[in-house]
Amino acid sequence: MVSRGSEFVVVANRLPVDRSVGADGVPAWRRSPGGLVSAIAPVMRRRNGTWIGWTGAPGEELEPFEEDGMSLHPIAQSAEEVALYYEGFSNATLWPLYHDVVAPPVYDRTMWDAYVRVNRRFAEAAAKVAADGAIVWVQDYQLQLVPAMLRALRPDLRIGFFLHIPFPPVELFWQLPWRRQILEGLLGADLVGFQLPGAAANFVRLCRRLLDTRYAKQDVFWDDRVVRARAFPISVDVGELNDLVGRPEVIERAQEIRGDLGDATVLLGVDRLDYTKGITQRLQAFGELFGDGHLKPGQAVFVQIATPSRERVEQYQLLREEIEQQVGRINGEYGEIGFPVVHYLHSSYDRSELTALYLAADVMVVTPLRDGMNLVAKEYVACRRDLRGALVLSEFAGAAAELKRGAFQVNPYDIDGLKGTLLAALNAEPGEQARRMRSMRRRVIEHDVDRWAQDFLSELERPVRSVPSPVSV
Ligand code: ADP
Ligand code: G6P
Repeated sequence: MVSRGSEFVVVANRLPVDRSVGADGVPAWRRSPGGLVSAIAPVMRRRNGTWIGWTGAPGEELEPFEEDGMSLHPIAQSAEEVALYYEGFSNATLWPLYHDVVAPPVYDRTMWDAYVRVNRRFAEAAAKVAADGAIVWVQDYQLQLVPAMLRALRPDLRIGFFLHIPFPPVELFWQLPWRRQILEGLLGADLVGFQLPGAAANFVRLCRRLLDTRYAKQDVFWDDRVVRARAFPISVDVGELNDLVGRPEVIERAQEIRGDLGDATVLLGVDRLDYTKGITQRLQAFGELFGDGHLKPGQAVFVQIATPSRERVEQYQLLREEIEQQVGRINGEYGEIGFPVVHYLHSSYDRSELTALYLAADVMVVTPLRDGMNLVAKEYVACRRDLRGALVLSEFAGAAAELKRGAFQVNPYDIDGLKGTLLAALNAEPGEQARRMRSMRRRVIEHDVDRWAQDFLSELERPVRSVPSPVSV
């Protein structure tokens, strides 16, 4: 039999690198945006595997190549597929539905057809690339049909799936016209991983209600197989961040940023520009603190970094306009010459610049309305070896489950509560900051991204018990 290649295959909509065109007009690679790539890239670099994904450019057909120590296997998407599968079903249907419908999901049959088509392409590529009996790890909401499609093509594989975003409660998922197909797609995996136990429980409950499956605790019995649903809270590459915070050029850059901001206390937000992140709520609360006289220009400043994201999707365009108007309004109303109260940067930065920003920030403000985990919160904690700084963290971020003892927790819908929490974080004494930071660091250091991957993959490789007979369930 001809050997088919890779023993370990990751399948994700995006490759870890994105096609961009430099100022000189020459195409180049840069790191792709978002938490999935931040988490999976270090895991892939340490394991010899193949990453199947899209380059971010419509219509581009490329041969497999090596980049940044990883074997990459590109999947093409036509401009129409990008519009219907990626911007459409993935990011105008599933993304808002899975994030508490904070924006209205679009239900469109043409988008669904493209989702099926592109998922099939990913499954076929994985079936070609994977060695006999290999492990294939499928990632995130864009590829929920791949596990079942791949199993039909290659029953010899061990298939894992991890959902990086929240999995909605039954009442919301029920809206989806293709709810049954999505569940059946996921049930093609041996192990379905979620960020939190509540999401795994939602999944099991849905399988029972919608497909009438038998189950025991978090094991679903489907098609004569046991499909395990489990929680694996994702994390950050503590080693990489530790290395960055020790570098003299990063420390110097942090001092330079602080110098540029005068004597002000620095609050920082770092997000993809996404309506789930609660950026307008945090800016509103911060602005009102000036209106109420709690803060004065020059005393505190907010640096909001917003990575461009999904720029052709309408809700993202509306959000960008709203934030840009809001920043203008706040600076116009409360700023003084030489003392703007908000610095807004619509750009993406490299890891060392981000680390310098984390080191320069007195208060890190993470206020999503709903977020699977939020790696930015954990990155900030991992960078603060000096035990300084405070983390304001939304109750609706997955990270809150692990960091609740050390973070200043907040409900971002409650603007008065948010104002009070921002002030509490701004006024925290160094002793309190250290106590809180120490407890959060303990958690993040012990549960870094390597441990997350290890936990998932050893559960995937664990032999499963057989499906019990109906009487014994
Ligand atoms: P999401 O996956 O929804 O984007 P996360 O907070 O989990 O949210 O992950 C975001 C990741 O993207 C983090 O690793 C963060 O460091 C990175 N990131 C966010 N903003 C920027 C930016 N402006 N430039 C570079 N990287 C960024
Ligand atoms: C989140 C999602 C990822 C996605 C990333 C960036 O982290 O969970 O699947 O890749 O956002 O979004 P994008 O649409 O640019 O891939």
